[in-house]
Amino acid sequence: MTDNTLTTRGLRLSARPDGPLLPRHIESRPVSLPLSPRLLLRPRYISVDPYMRTRMHAEGYGYIERWQATSALSGWALAEVLHSREVGFTPGDLVVGHLPMQELVASEASGLIRVSSGIDPLAYLHPLGMTGFTAWVGMEHLGAPMPDDTVLVNAAAGAVGSLAAQLARRRGARVIVTAGRPDKRAWLARLGFDTVLDHRHPDYAAQLLDAATEGVTLGFENVGGAAFHATIEAMRRHGRIVLCGLVSQYQSTNPRQGPANIATLAANRVKVTPFVVPHYLKHWETFQRFMAPQVMKRTLDWRLDIMTGGLDSVAAALIGVLEGDNLGKRVVLME
Ligand SMILES: NC(=O)c1ccc[n+]([C@@H]2O[C@H](COP(=O)([O-])OP(=O)(O)OC[C@H]3O[C@@H](n4cnc5c(N)ncnc54)[C@H](OP(=O)(O)O)[C@@H]3O)[C@@H](O)[C@H]2O)c1
Repeated sequence: MTDNTLTTRGLRLSARPDGPLLPRHIESRPVSLPLSPRLLLRPRYISVDPYMRTRMHAEGYGYIERWQATSALSGWALAEVLHSREVGFTPGDLVVGHLPMQELVASEASGLIRVSSGIDPLAYLHPLGMTGFTAWVGMEHLGAPMPDDTVLVNAAAGAVGSLAAQLARRRGARVIVTAGRPDKRAWLARLGFDTVLDHRHPDYAAQLLDAATEGVTLGFENVGGAAFHATIEAMRRHGRIVLCGLVSQYQSTNPRQGPANIATLAANRVKVTPFVVPHYLKHWETFQRFMAPQVMKRTLDWRLDIMTGGLDSVAAALIGVLEGDNLGKRVVLME
């Protein structure tokens, strides 16, 4: 601390990865804060998400600012107000925002979401946050399945997939889900999904065709790569695909490859709708009105995968998500 600054610790990218993200690509360093910010926040939980890896790519994903060497890392976080000069914020309040990954954060009120009493604050990092919004935009708003739909959601034991699959089932559709590990598939079976496949299995494409003999009418694509290839093969004529993400490609040195069977989409007249949630923010309030009662009544199941260790665990937590070691929404507990 100097006369007019306070020092904390934050994360930055030390170098842009070319291939898999490694712990050495993320480093901590001292960060100076003003002594008397409008709000002084202490993040309690930091969300780690696959899109963070896309921010490190040299090109593409232009809807969000790219990170390069020395860029400060940021992410959704649940934080406690320590000091406030903002009207309506008092020490002890909990807020959610897209914040720098630091032990302490100087902030203003704008852009912060207040945590409502009566709701589990951590819900704001999952069903009521960005991952819930993604599931809602992709499934409720864009996919909007009907009872005669056969829906495929891959990586369905993850954050977005688990909610998207439940939303499709709630609308009466038949839902096929996939996950890459036995305990993940067991959780999906416990949630009541009766067709649970392994998108990492060498015979997955054939298993999917067996499970969807009349074809998938709505694909909710999270994985990309070989799994996306299999989705395309399984689509019924005039089906539709909501393209949410391509996580299996994000760590590749050449992450912008399409599946080799992409022409099959044209042959089968499949409509593909790619989306990113920042383009749908005008629907945020509608989403909140839809999702808050589901969270309060617990009519949707959601699960957190909490890693301890604070800032020093963020790199491992993110690398783990990109490799698939999370079950549910991965967040890091700040200590
Ligand atoms: N469109 C948008 O605005 C938007 C917003 C948020 C997220 N997304 C996308 O939604 C998808 C899910 O994100 P999430 O936050 O919910 O993450 P998540 O599903 O909780 O975690 C990622 C999961 O992807 C699977 N995976 C990781 N690497 C893989 C690989 N190499 N091959 C196959 N599967 C792999 C793993 O599940 P398994 O163990 O089951 O393989 C892993 O658990 C991602 O594609 C993400 O980019 C899109």
